[in-house]
Amino acid sequence: MLKTKDILDEKDKRLHEKAKEVVFPLTEKDKKAINDMIEYLTNSQIDELAEKYDLRPGMGMAAVQLGIMKRYYVVVHEYEPHKFHTYVLINPEIVSNSSEKIYVEEGEGCLSVNREVDGIVPRYARVTMHAYDMDGKEFTVRGREDLAVVFQHELDHLNGIMFTDHIDPKHPFKDKDKMRPI
Ligand code: NI
Repeated sequence: MLKTKDILDEKDKRLHEKAKEVVFPLTEKDKKAINDMIEYLTNSQIDELAEKYDLRPGMGMAAVQLGIMKRYYVVVHEYEPHKFHTYVLINPEIVSNSSEKIYVEEGEGCLSVNREVDGIVPRYARVTMHAYDMDGKEFTVRGREDLAVVFQHELDHLNGIMFTDHIDPKHPFKDKDKMRPI
């Protein structure tokens, strides 16, 4: 079972590097990592289990956060209270996006960032992703609002970009009026 201490901290240089395309079939190590990530993210959003196993709540995790420099990530989205939908995106790309932009009003979080960071991270309100599943089959998936934000946040990880990189420390709330808070 994955532990919170297995997740790399933002200071680790691997989080600032670009990850490599996945070649199918997946290795056993990648399959295990994906299943571990699903388990961690799901349990972390269930209060009793998060407390029991000392998990930080999160809805997305990229392989690079475990030091695996490959282009895949997992999102576990609580679409209704206590109901979760799991997404595994391998070699993901944004194929279309809304012109409307949004930002998370309380600030974005990241399992690799153990501090409060103020400021706006502009994200598309809606995105359509193209990716491959664990069997190497292509699919597209749409995300809006918080799901769109997490799809973009995790895609950034695959390119070595942290959410904090989007925030100008001198003007952390610039262009606020051009976007909708969620
Ligand atoms: Ni993150």
